[in-house]
Amino acid sequence: MSGPQVLLRDVSAADRDRLRAWRNQSDVAQWMYTDAEISEADHARWFAAALSDPARRYWIIELDGEPVGLANLADISPAHRKCAWAYYLASPSVRGKGVGAYVEYWVIEHVFGPMGLSKLCCEVLVENEAVWRLHESFGFRREALLRQHVWKNGEPRDVVGLGLLADDWAMVREASRDRLRAKGYAFD
Ligand SMILES: CC(C)(COP(=O)(O)OP(=O)(O)OC[C@H]1O[C@@H](n2cnc3c(N)ncnc32)[C@H](O)[C@@H]1OP(=O)(O)O)[C@@H](O)C(=O)NCCC(=O)NCCS
Repeated sequence: MSGPQVLLRDVSAADRDRLRAWRNQSDVAQWMYTDAEISEADHARWFAAALSDPARRYWIIELDGEPVGLANLADISPAHRKCAWAYYLASPSVRGKGVGAYVEYWVIEHVFGPMGLSKLCCEVLVENEAVWRLHESFGFRREALLRQHVWKNGEPRDVVGLGLLADDWAMVREASRDRLRAKGYAFD
């Protein structure tokens, strides 16, 4: 069985307009902390800062050679051996096919492998239950319920804070690989 061909590549200057278009889609913005329309000028400022900040990393998620989403690391702290991450698949038509699960695996492996960090954190709006459950299925533990943590459309929203330690990952890594194999992904 051959599964989806998923690849993560560095964001380049040529991705700038695509990222603004994706981020302004309501089915992406609704899960982010801010969902006001992002202007071209604001996006250009954000993009330049994003690519030059050593505490951040951005990858385009490609499915069968087509760009389909964005994954990123933030708050990379070598001193505290940790960083945070987030991701989205821009088109709902590519969701639910196992792409997200593979991205989750790839990012975790990258953070604990080549980057040598020992903790990976993330925050998810509490109503985005499918996603915090997805993180938990990869070994993340809920470490916080951050009450009224962000305001969207004039309303306070609660956020789940999750953390995965390299030690946690060592315990679930093989089982996670087995789950991905069952979805058609191959590993050496
Ligand atoms: C989060 C996201 C990247 C997940 O990617 P995906 O490709 O849809 O997820 P997968 O198909 O790999 O599914 C992984 C698991 O999550 C479950 N899942 C995914 N979406 C789900 C949903 N909406 N409801 C219930 N379960 C869901 C799947 O059943 C699967 O479980 P399994 O491994 O036991 O079979 C994608 O849905 C997305 O971009 N959502 C909008 C943006 C977003 O919420 N980003 C996270 C912000 S913190």
